[in-house]
Amino acid sequence: MREYRENAPAKINLALHVTGRREDGYHLLDTLVTFADRGDVITVREADQDALSLSGPFSHLLEAEALPNNLVLKARDGLRQTLATKGISTRPVAIHLEKNLPIASGIGGGSADAAATLRALIKLWHVDLNACDLQAIALRLGADVPMCLHSRPLRATGIGDAVLPLPTLPRFGIILGNPLKTVSTPSIFKALTRRDYPAIGMLPLTSNQSDWLKAISDMRNDLEPVARQLCPEIATLTQLISDTGAELTRMSGSGATCFGLYQTLEKAEKAVKTLQAIKPDWYFQAANSVSEV
Ligand code: C5P
Repeated sequence: MREYRENAPAKINLALHVTGRREDGYHLLDTLVTFADRGDVITVREADQDALSLSGPFSHLLEAEALPNNLVLKARDGLRQTLATKGISTRPVAIHLEKNLPIASGIGGGSADAAATLRALIKLWHVDLNACDLQAIALRLGADVPMCLHSRPLRATGIGDAVLPLPTLPRFGIILGNPLKTVSTPSIFKALTRRDYPAIGMLPLTSNQSDWLKAISDMRNDLEPVARQLCPEIATLTQLISDTGAELTRMSGSGATCFGLYQTLEKAEKAVKTLQAIKPDWYFQAANSVSEV
């Protein structure tokens, strides 16, 4: 039986500037994004009937009654619908989600799962879908799903859907930390009082790590001050990560996950050990960021 496996890597907003607001309430963003080499894993295989199974350290948080709303199933159904309009029928599929990332945590776990499901099903069903159709399906699933289809260093504008791949963003050692408090993305955006922050400026043209660290240090996450008010653990978390010697510490997305950047994976792994000893109940993960250079 044919089976395909796709990684659903954690998304890290190295910077997230809120530059405006659309009439439908969605915010305009300018965001610098990379991905970790760690995340959830989606496996799809041919089956007699559709099914979704779960495993992994955070799977118990995906409640059974909410599963019909899970982005993985919405991705399957969205792809099926689009293919049906082209006269292409699709076979039942058993999907397995290995949930390694904390949920509702600002690192795009659900969006990455949806994007990985689309990539895997396109292979399983052996269909050729043009980039425009795929982008439209992804965007209907959520503003972050198009960027998760890329899973490469990128800058995104619009509501996060206008993606520009960045071939020069270098690799970093990264820590992801989360106090295991879920933060609701709509409530963070709603609590913003200012929505016209300046866009991200010029990006380095080199792939030199210290040039990028300096440039990213001058950027912000405009959602972080609001998230800190709603989730005070974020301040403790960024301080703890910073104290391990991170070159830069910031919140990702709408939180509560914060990241630290290090020159190497080894430094990040050492910092995770220190942090796990201080906060054994929190989530800490060391990773490399992906890079095209
Ligand atoms: O698109 P997604 O479902 O991920 O967005 C969740 C919520 O986050 C939206 O309903 C909206 O309230 C908020 N959001 C926003 N601007 C964005 C992305 C998300 O206001 N660019």
